[in-house]
Amino acid sequence: MAMKMIEGKNISHSYEFEGSVNLSLEGVSITVQKGELVAILGHNGSGKSTLAKHFNALLPLQQGTLTVAGLDANESANFWEIRRKCGMVFQNPDNQFVSSVVEEDIAFGLENYDTPQEQIPERIDRALQVVGMSGYEKKSPHMLSGGQKQRIALAGVFAVNPEIIIFDEATTMLDPEGRRELMETIRRLHRDHRKTIIMITHYLEEAVIADRVCLLNEGRVMAQGTAREILTDRDLLAEAGLLPPLPVQIYYDLKEEGIILERCPLTGEELVEELAGICQ
Ligand SMILES: Nc1ncnc2c1ncn2[C@@H]1O[C@H](COP(=O)(O)OP(=O)(O)O)[C@@H](O)[C@H]1O
Ligand SMILES: [Mg+2]
Repeated sequence: MAMKMIEGKNISHSYEFEGSVNLSLEGVSITVQKGELVAILGHNGSGKSTLAKHFNALLPLQQGTLTVAGLDANESANFWEIRRKCGMVFQNPDNQFVSSVVEEDIAFGLENYDTPQEQIPERIDRALQVVGMSGYEKKSPHMLSGGQKQRIALAGVFAVNPEIIIFDEATTMLDPEGRRELMETIRRLHRDHRKTIIMITHYLEEAVIADRVCLLNEGRVMAQGTAREILTDRDLLAEAGLLPPLPVQIYYDLKEEGIILERCPLTGEELVEELAGICQ
């Protein structure tokens, strides 16, 4: 039976800033099932991070209801457990470390959540293995590449055994190789470790791997659907201030030139298939 990992209803949030009120979420309802990979898309300032911070109890609920891994996010007594069950990897790879030694950094998080001392070494080993960073125990996080830093940050999150992992634009500051490594790790967490994953991004190509996509615009859910439904809808994306993935753009550009592909491709591979199809 499907189990709801996140169930938010009618969440609204406003920030007060220098006397003015900024409504950043307005009546957002969203459900994420256990094991799903959901991408949340939206332009800068559309409310993605504000929503994510609700999911791991970094921001208190002002309006609406929210349960995370079965815990009521309106109960302050649950905040600690919500943060453990819903881990977050942030945008800036340099702001996420408390220690200058990889294994100490991961141990710090484990100690924070009262992990028995004797379990800590094997939890660190396993977390580093999962993110493909075994052998980096004694290194300084600051000496690593951006992609490696993000994977160490992820190991710290994974080590405390969360149900849900949120990536809040975690690839934004990475070079192409770092992005590829992190995306591959995210895919593996989803496929092999059956984690529930929320991937926040404005790189639409990254959302192709999502089971479901939620499009935010001006603090509201503008659309939800499969990656194919949302990412091939050029007009919808334009309305949300986003450009579709490159293969989708090419599909529409070809169409304007009178070249009609049978279906709109979502990936480079699909584009090649479609083009090969019409060239035969
Ligand atoms: N701490 C804050 N104080 C005041 N306004 C904020 C704060 N954080 C975000 N906002 C505003 O809330 C809106 C949504 O921001 P955010 O959730 O960060 O969007 P996104 O992550 O999609 O870029 C924006 O208009 C932003 O300026
Ligand atoms: Mg953000």
